[in-house]
Amino acid sequence: MKKPFLEVLSGRKQAVPPIWMMRQAGRYLPEYRELRAKAGSFLDLCFTPEHAAEVTLQPIRRFGFDAAIIFSDILVIPHALGRSVRFEAGEGPRLEPLDTPEKVATLAAQADFAKLEPVFEALRRVKRELDAQTALIGFCGAPWTVATYMVAGQGTPDQAPARMLAYRHPKAFEKIIDALVANSIPYLVGQLRAGADAVQIFDTWAGVLPPREFARWSIEPTRRIVEGVRQQIPDAQIIGFPRGAGALLPDYVGATGVNGVSIDWAAEPALIRERVQNRVAVQGNLDPLALIAGGDALDRAIDDVLENYGRGRLIFNLGHGILPETPIAHVEQMIKRVRAYEA
Ligand code: CP3
Repeated sequence: MKKPFLEVLSGRKQAVPPIWMMRQAGRYLPEYRELRAKAGSFLDLCFTPEHAAEVTLQPIRRFGFDAAIIFSDILVIPHALGRSVRFEAGEGPRLEPLDTPEKVATLAAQADFAKLEPVFEALRRVKRELDAQTALIGFCGAPWTVATYMVAGQGTPDQAPARMLAYRHPKAFEKIIDALVANSIPYLVGQLRAGADAVQIFDTWAGVLPPREFARWSIEPTRRIVEGVRQQIPDAQIIGFPRGAGALLPDYVGATGVNGVSIDWAAEPALIRERVQNRVAVQGNLDPLALIAGGDALDRAIDDVLENYGRGRLIFNLGHGILPETPIAHVEQMIKRVRAYEA
């Protein structure tokens, strides 16, 4: 039995596009909120294989998506590098800032992979539960995006602290990027060996970089990760998500060697069709706010994605993660409409 998600990634478009959602396990689901309340901290939830596997499977059971994404976070790598990582309720992540060359000098080069073993175990558990058509996705953050949180110690509107460190102290910043590249390779290889059918590299903050910095801090580290993973697993299926890359997306695709790209909702359809979708699979790109709005606005936004990209290799998804206030009925409306489509 073939997995439609993997068919599209490896070059064969499907009449009905496979569908999943970024952040599909999360706070918009009552069953997630219930387990989250019992599990203790967010990292406890990520690192308890039984719980992580259960929340990974919740959206599959409820909606029958074509892919499950392992429940974890991009900040488990800084955690395994010995940095303190906490998630404050309602505020997002908090890390000890790494904002001077002196602090960067203390950064470990080698992650403690024993800390990441629960993620691999959760993947093995999910793999046993999934049916033959449903793909399993592993992931990591791209070095640039993970570094933005490590430098600032938290999310910021435009990731100014990391941009500033990269201008003022490029050698120190490069040391952070190199540590993330070196450890993300075995982390992705470990996830693929534990049962992931594909991996996604989330570069949520790629769009704040000028072109020269985008090439150096987003494209080049991602290219090195793709190359490093393929040295060990030559046919590894890899999706990139350089959010906000805009007109730089064709450069990213050409240089990194990914099999697919996730596109955000601001992507320009002709550029994507002519210079991206002709080379790799495209995943996206419904505006998460249209999914909250529902009704005719949602139907129109879904039809736009299908009309723009449905005749090529498309994995239907959102342009970024689903938001906690999204009504479940709107997710059902979306799945029904996408599955009724035939290119
Ligand atoms: O897609 C999935 O269902 C898999 C799970 C997943 C999470 N984080 C769980 C999570 C994935 C793929 C991520 C990736 C991630 N984490 C990114 C890249 C993708 C993106 O959405 O931009 C980033 C930048 C992070 C870092 C992070 N983790 C932030 C900024 C936050 C706080 C914001 C928020 O939504 O609360 C988190 C916390 C987080 N990661 C939650 C979940 C479900 C919410 C925490 C909770 O339930 O208490």
